[in-house]
Amino acid sequence: MRQNILITGASSGLGAQMARDFAALGRNLALVARRKDRLEELKAELLQRHPQITVSVGQLDVTDPEAVFTSFRSFATEFAPLGGIDRIIVNAGLGKGQPLGTGRFDANLETARTNFIGGLAQCEAALELFRAQHSGHLVVISSMSALRGMRKNMTTYAASKAGIDALAEGLRVELGSGPIRVSTIRPGYIRSEMNERVKNTPLIVSTEKGVRAMVAAIEKERPTANVPAWPWVPLGLLVRVLPTRALARMG
Ligand SMILES: NC(=O)c1ccc[n+]([C@@H]2O[C@H](COP(=O)([O-])OP(=O)(O)OC[C@H]3O[C@@H](n4cnc5c(N)ncnc54)[C@H](OP(=O)(O)O)[C@@H]3O)[C@@H](O)[C@H]2O)c1
Repeated sequence: MRQNILITGASSGLGAQMARDFAALGRNLALVARRKDRLEELKAELLQRHPQITVSVGQLDVTDPEAVFTSFRSFATEFAPLGGIDRIIVNAGLGKGQPLGTGRFDANLETARTNFIGGLAQCEAALELFRAQHSGHLVVISSMSALRGMRKNMTTYAASKAGIDALAEGLRVELGSGPIRVSTIRPGYIRSEMNERVKNTPLIVSTEKGVRAMVAAIEKERPTANVPAWPWVPLGLLVRVLPTRALARMG
């Protein structure tokens, strides 16, 4: 059982709800994001409901690689008396992006920096800890949009998620069935701050329902999981073989 869990992007949406669900399972938590006030509020809520667990929060911008290393190393030291950090969830992400060539390179660069370069820094820092302790569970929150190229506002986001998805697969290939495990979680549409302005669609599920499926897949340490399984497992198979003209109607 992974007792001490570090979650990035824990100040809202899926990260905050994963923290709630893991706290309910009695796990100790290290939570980071840029909005420290939101993390402090979440910490107070979690400790009120589960006074037996340890919750530590820290401010971190994942686009600053040095800060990522410093933050992860400092949590490793802090949690050493509790047995060390044994699961790291690379969850911080940005859903921004604009069609390429429309003057919004800034938005696309910020998306790529957060999701791919930030994700790479987090995987590096996590693997540094896990290699030193010869164990650990790295969880990368990818997306169903990693499976194919997507149009317009989704183009850079999908490409950044495909990049981090491939990075996690490469690590799984390298680490095989050894003591360091790597899971890739691909959420479908789950309510969060990222999509709060998106209207209800038949495919979108509540934060609670979506995250319950994510946490179940993470606990099973599945190599890959499209969540919730219905409809995203069959849709994942379909999306991989759709002709480009059909993709034009998505996203
Ligand atoms: N919701 C969905 O349907 C869905 C589907 C597929 C994949 N995902 C993925 O799920 C993950 C969580 O997203 P969400 O849906 O929960 O959206 P969200 O509510 O907007 O949460 C995003 C989290 O990432 C953090 N974050 C963003 N930029 C950051 C940075 N530079 N440094 C540190 N933290 C940063 C935010 O915290 P601060 O702003 O406080 O830093 C926030 O806690 C993302 O990787 C997203 O791509 C979501």
